[in-house]
Amino acid sequence: MNISEQYLHLTQSQLDPVAKAVAAYIQQLSFVAIYGEMGSGKTTLIKAIVKELKSTNEVSSPTFSLVNEYTDNSGNSIYHFDLYRLRSIEEAYDIGYEEYFYGKGVCLVEWPQVIESLLPTPRLEVHISTHSPNTRDFLIKSVN
Ligand SMILES: Nc1ncnc2c1ncn2[C@@H]1O[C@H](COP(=O)(O)OP(=O)(O)OP(=O)(O)O)[C@@H](O)[C@H]1O
Ligand SMILES: [Mg+2]
Repeated sequence: MNISEQYLHLTQSQLDPVAKAVAAYIQQLSFVAIYGEMGSGKTTLIKAIVKELKSTNEVSSPTFSLVNEYTDNSGNSIYHFDLYRLRSIEEAYDIGYEEYFYGKGVCLVEWPQVIESLLPTPRLEVHISTHSPNTRDFLIKSVN
């Protein structure tokens, strides 16, 4: 598989192609780091990816915990992290990040930059940028 960098410019109503591409790559890269400013659409993209992975769970950003668990229709786990409130690397150790990152499930991570040095390779990265209120640019790449 060659994930040469893919660059897509999409509105919310067209999110499906991004979610489909990410879901296809997830077969091989089960860790997805999603970068983007506050309100750029990370959670919205994760909703679309989780749907694409055939999960019927309700997706919402983890608030009290740092991670939500969903399951796909085969019973595989999907972990949705929002690390915005993570204060230190120690907190990542406290929640046992290794079990998630190197375990069997899929990890979808908002605000991964907080623990940049702990991110596993190979991984997929999605970088979202906002250039107008109604459209987003998505850069998808693999990091080895
Ligand atoms: N692809 C898109 N095109 C247009 N608008 C979008 C898109 N994705 C999300 N939005 C809008 O942007 C807003 C924020 O979306 P969302 O909550 O997904 O952002 P976020 O990056 O998860 O934010 P936070 O940093 O707070 O976690 C919502 O109002 C949503 O409707
Ligand atoms: Mg969010």
